[in-house]
Amino acid sequence: MPDLSGKHGLIVGVANKRSISWAIAQAAAAAGARLALTYPSERLEENVRELAATLDNPLVLPCDVASDQQIADLGVTLDREFGGLDFFVHGAAFAPKEALDSPFVETSRESFRMALDVSAYSLVGLTRAVAPLMEKRGGGSVLTLTYLGSQRVFTNYNVMGVAKAALESSVRYLAADLGPKNIRVNAISAGAIKTLAAAGISGFSSILQVYRDKAPLRRGVDQGEVADAAIFLLSPDSRAITGEVLMVDAGYHVVGF
Ligand SMILES: NC(=O)c1ccc[n+]([C@@H]2O[C@H](COP(=O)([O-])OP(=O)(O)OC[C@H]3O[C@@H](n4cnc5c(N)ncnc54)[C@H](O)[C@@H]3O)[C@@H](O)[C@H]2O)c1
Repeated sequence: MPDLSGKHGLIVGVANKRSISWAIAQAAAAAGARLALTYPSERLEENVRELAATLDNPLVLPCDVASDQQIADLGVTLDREFGGLDFFVHGAAFAPKEALDSPFVETSRESFRMALDVSAYSLVGLTRAVAPLMEKRGGGSVLTLTYLGSQRVFTNYNVMGVAKAALESSVRYLAADLGPKNIRVNAISAGAIKTLAAAGISGFSSILQVYRDKAPLRRGVDQGEVADAAIFLLSPDSRAITGEVLMVDAGYHVVGF
């Protein structure tokens, strides 16, 4: 396991104990990092505080990623409390339920806007806010979470697939902008995992069986396996890797018909 002791990290996207971001938070803490976790609304604050209480000396801060003001406030607080930042994990995604239930062609302008704003633009806004803190540390690592639905059609994934395509493209443009500051930007494309976000996709459980039947490793993946890959991308072990989308999906993406 890479060593993250003495490092400070921001984790956005913990909703409950099944969240992929929570598995990454636990692995980063086990590797020695001190963390800030965020919650998007009062409804989720208690969940996040309860989980954070199991970590060593965490910060728990509000951040609705659809709010420029809350993103700016988060940057100021992190700077004051941590004096810089070494890594940032972006695990926020949202699309209105109706956009995941109806045919893609029915996607409304507002659903499209909201999905792209929360699930893709937020990486740009948050990375801009934390980049100066990473510069103070001589560089940093930004990591987001994506899905193969960015490139292929998965029933009901719909506008979230479009948002993931924008997210992955944003990873490449951010990597090009921030590379000269030694800030790396990567994504993990995870296999399907049963989480709160996944529960919003109708027919999701049938996708899980497809992984067991078709993936080269004949199984799905779990949060801990994504977290292990994440720690590699957050640590100096991956110091020459940026602009990359790493597939952590039991090999499912290589399979054709
Ligand atoms: N579960 C899967 O099968 C799977 C596969 C590949 C990628 N992903 C991606 O992993 C990431 C994490 O999802 P998850 O599966 O762990 O589910 P999750 O529901 O635990 O996490 C999604 C998070 O997004 C947050 N969020 C939504 N709107 C927000 C807002 N306005 N401001 C701040 N946060 C907001 C939620 O609070 C939640 O913490 C997402 O980007 C998801 O698309 C998931």
